[in-house]
Amino acid sequence: MDNDALRARIGEVTDWYHTIELAPGIVTPGYIDMRKAADKVLPEDMSGTRALDIGTFDGVWAFEMEKRGAAEVVAIDLLDPLQWDWPHGSDADVIDQVGRRKAGGVGFEIARDAMGSSVERHALSVYDLDPEDIGTFDFVYVGSLLLHLRDPVLALERARAVCAGEALIVDAVDAGLSALFRKRPLAGLDGRGRPWWWKPNVAGLVRMIEAGGFEVLDQPARVRMKAGAGQRRPPLRPSVLRTRAGREQLALTSLGGAHAAVRARPR
Ligand SMILES: C[S@@+](CC[C@H](N)C(=O)[O-])C[C@H]1O[C@@H](n2cnc3c(N)ncnc32)[C@H](O)[C@@H]1O
Repeated sequence: MDNDALRARIGEVTDWYHTIELAPGIVTPGYIDMRKAADKVLPEDMSGTRALDIGTFDGVWAFEMEKRGAAEVVAIDLLDPLQWDWPHGSDADVIDQVGRRKAGGVGFEIARDAMGSSVERHALSVYDLDPEDIGTFDFVYVGSLLLHLRDPVLALERARAVCAGEALIVDAVDAGLSALFRKRPLAGLDGRGRPWWWKPNVAGLVRMIEAGGFEVLDQPARVRMKAGAGQRRPPLRPSVLRTRAGREQLALTSLGGAHAAVRARPR
């Protein structure tokens, strides 16, 4: 595909979630740019491994694992946002808006075609992972997913069931709770109007992972998920600073979303 055709294909997606360099200098305008985070937390050499990316969205983590030499990369995702864990009372307009943003996962297909990738994607919930159906993996990646699940520990149990090597869990943490409570596992609960549930402190994320049947291998690393070109930055105005949502959005766009990266293996 020549560069103009590639740019036209990128333009077919209204809202890219991931920032992906599809060809030299041709980058998707993602909401998030995780490329630096991937360099920080993924193993440099994944040669010969069978890897799984859970909740892949546009697929940047799956593609990064493939670039690092993984022999086979499988990605799973719930392509229909109606199947996500929505709290009762969620607004139909919000569900519809998220559905349009997800666009049936077409961004992943465009990226895979453009890069000549062999990542294989299945429409499957993390809750339904079963080694009888999908096999086991040397490396399992869980990224920015647990926050969106009503039952993150069940999801971790299912990830553990297909993990025959190592897992890397990189998920959202509450920066304030993590600073105030370094040892005590705690989580805030959203659960209102959008598929956002538990945001733990770092100790809480570690405890969830252990409760899901993993042994944590080393100290969690702190990672910021940086805003991409597709994320609107709120203006620095008193009206924005007055509301909690405004302050959160400002912190998100300027600093990036606070995450912790935890390496673990099945206990
Ligand atoms: C915030 S995005 C994270 C994308 C990617 N994992 C990353 O780290 O950048 C959340 C993803 O989780 C997926 N998802 C939501 N519920 C899921 C479930 N039950 N099973 C698998 N994927 C799910 C969504 O479709 C979406 O692709």
